Amino acid sequence: MPTPVFEARAVSKAFGPVRALSDVTVTLNRGEVHSIIGENGAGKSTLMNIICGRLQPTSGQLFIDGTPVHFHNPKDAQRQGIAIAPQEISLVPDLTVYENIMLGAQRSGFLSIDWARTRDEATRHLHEVDKSIDPRAKVSGLSKAQQQLVQIARAAATEARILIFDEPTATLTYREEEVLLAYIENLAREGRSAFYISHRLDEVRRLSHRITVLRDGVHVGELSPDEASRDAMVRLMAGRPPKVGAQDIRPVSTAAPILEVQGLTRAGEFEDVSFTLRKGEILGVSGLIGAGRTEMAKCLFGVTRAQSGKIRLDGQEVAFSGPYQAINAGLIYLPEERKQEGIFPLLSIAENTALPTIDRFSGLLHLRNRDMMAEVARLADQMKAKFNALKDPITSLSGGNQQKFIIARWLMRDAKVLVMDEPTRGIDVNAKFEIQSVLRKLTEERGLSIIVISSEMEELLDVADRILVMHEGRVKGVVDRRDATQEGLLQLAMA
Ligand SMILES: Nc1ncnc2c1ncn2[C@@H]1O[C@H](COP(=O)(O)OP(=O)(O)OP(=O)(O)O)[C@@H](O)[C@H]1O
Ligand SMILES: [Mg+2]
Repeated sequence: MPTPVFEARAVSKAFGPVRALSDVTVTLNRGEVHSIIGENGAGKSTLMNIICGRLQPTSGQLFIDGTPVHFHNPKDAQRQGIAIAPQEISLVPDLTVYENIMLGAQRSGFLSIDWARTRDEATRHLHEVDKSIDPRAKVSGLSKAQQQLVQIARAAATEARILIFDEPTATLTYREEEVLLAYIENLAREGRSAFYISHRLDEVRRLSHRITVLRDGVHVGELSPDEASRDAMVRLMAGRPPKVGAQDIRPVSTAAPILEVQGLTRAGEFEDVSFTLRKGEILGVSGLIGAGRTEMAKCLFGVTRAQSGKIRLDGQEVAFSGPYQAINAGLIYLPEERKQEGIFPLLSIAENTALPTIDRFSGLLHLRNRDMMAEVARLADQMKAKFNALKDPITSLSGGNQQKFIIARWLMRDAKVLVMDEPTRGIDVNAKFEIQSVLRKLTEERGLSIIVISSEMEELLDVADRILVMHEGRVKGVVDRRDATQEGLLQLAMA
């Protein structure tokens, strides 16, 4: 056996009382893609952050080519040829794509940066993952998916031999996912090595040479791609037989419409969008990146104004001039990007969850607090969220667990229509099933109506009653769940 290019040996990490990693050993060979899988909070990102110098282990040792190394910060790791495309977007929004890539990808030492070469490399890598992104565009103007691709290009444009991809496909749709997987396969063929993290188990199986499973911070198994059936992976991750599957197909709803959209248009974003959402119904919205799904949702929510078209909510024509009006009328939008639009990083888990609901918990201050905590805890439990204490900062949660609390936040509010943009992004397969069950229950028990925008067709087929497909700003069709197939949806989406 040749010496692995990298080894993390017996690594442990504690955050106060939380043991995020216990005695984990992983190796990486030359030209290998090694996936690390596990439920939300299993310790995947913590391990990757230790490997790339963003965190220091409590104990354990890292080796490169068999030689012990110590990283005090990410620069140390970079010098040793390690680069990461992190789970959360960490770009400078006001700089251009190209400047962002340059910041991370400076070739050679600080004083002798080869700018021209760096720029060429940056552009080459960017175009390999996505031809449509203009390197001179400001990052703040890009979609989440495009930003994620920029982060990947930034990591790959370094001379790093060891690349880390922490959920790179979470916001990508089918088409970009294909391009990215092929790109990573190619990096491996060129002799570079990668740690790969994803909750999309099909792509894990396709891409990996080896799969390591973490559960509660412990290494619980290693699978070869042939051993890694979906069932085997889920079983190891959860430590019990999987309970996942699709929700039942419900009969086509004949309830009264709650939201009627007619001819909604914002030039350049979406055009002539019409659909009806019925009481207690879940409408899925599918489409490739750039289909105009998020733009349409933001317009419904009053973030932007339609140029033409009508919106009727519960029979009343509405034209919101801001999200506050939409919320007061009972229409809520849960945005796709939690870090920039979704969470308040300085506040606790409980405060983050209850913030928009505070008015509901009137009464004496301490009473209010107790009620609020109880409800947050109840929802957290339903969604199998993993946390230490509700008073801890929200930033102490793993990515998927943050998302569960954001969902809980909006479920605590009384609403008529809930628009969720990529709600289960980054959420593990078991928890996804639980969340889908919670959504179903809310529609049945409270008559809530839900629009779910998702880049994963599988998820829409699991949870929606009907699926609306958009392409380049236009509605291509609305399909009943019982008639919908992945292939059919894809054909509509590619139009
Ligand atoms: N800064 C921190 N302070 C306290 N606890 C933390 C901190 N960072 C992570 N943790 C805890 O460590 C554990 C592992 O978190 P980690 O982010 O590694 O999970 P993950 O496997 O990446 O999950 P996900 O799939 O949700 O991204 C979790 O219980 C998390 O709450
Ligand atoms: Mg993570």
